[in-house]
Amino acid sequence: MAKKKISLVVLISGGGSNLQAIIDAIKNQQLDAEIKTVISNQVTAGGLDRAALADIETHVVDHKQFPDRQTFDRALVNIIDPLRPDLVVLAGFMRILSDGFIDHFHDRLVNIHPSLLPKYKGLNTHQMAIDNHDAVHGASVHYVSHELDSGPIVIQAEVPVLDSDDKNSLASRVLEQEHKIYPMMLQMVADGRLTFDGEQLNLDNKPLHKPLLWKNNKLST
Ligand code: GAR
Repeated sequence: MAKKKISLVVLISGGGSNLQAIIDAIKNQQLDAEIKTVISNQVTAGGLDRAALADIETHVVDHKQFPDRQTFDRALVNIIDPLRPDLVVLAGFMRILSDGFIDHFHDRLVNIHPSLLPKYKGLNTHQMAIDNHDAVHGASVHYVSHELDSGPIVIQAEVPVLDSDDKNSLASRVLEQEHKIYPMMLQMVADGRLTFDGEQLNLDNKPLHKPLLWKNNKLST
């Protein structure tokens, strides 16, 4: 019997390499999921081409055409709701979402952020890790709560910062790990191992008190 697939709506703003990692994981049968649609707030987002190549429906909702954040977010909800996705996946979606949007999807809204949260919320995370002489940097996959780049963290990937790193070299090594941990997290949901009710994160029926750690290609608790 075919395995149950979770349904996803993916929101992007840019190149869409995380979207591509999700598409590839589905294609390679490492992720039991179906992407219902991809929504971009940028008409030029490279991720739109990636979706089209994979025969996934796309929408552009240009935030500049809306008078305020609430109206823009309602337009997103109007596309997403009829699709009844199991998860709304933010994959490089560079808009701050309204409280109304976050409340609406409170138990099924996930994000990937290029830092070891709660360190370095917002932008320029790689440069900050270098400027602060951090030995390790990384990325976090988390459910989304009201405060920017906050909410229960499921997996963090650690990436060493090298003396030779500039923000681009560091970003590209972090991105490589993002491409592993996002599909991994989504598969935990597909397997029914990871659940979130809006407050409590559970893995294998036990509360997940601290993020799982992805390091040297291994996942540990
Ligand atoms: C990724 O590094 C992602 O973590 C980051 O944007 C990049 C998108 O790359 N997201 C954020 O900074 C959200 N706060 P992609 O378009 O190639 O997936």
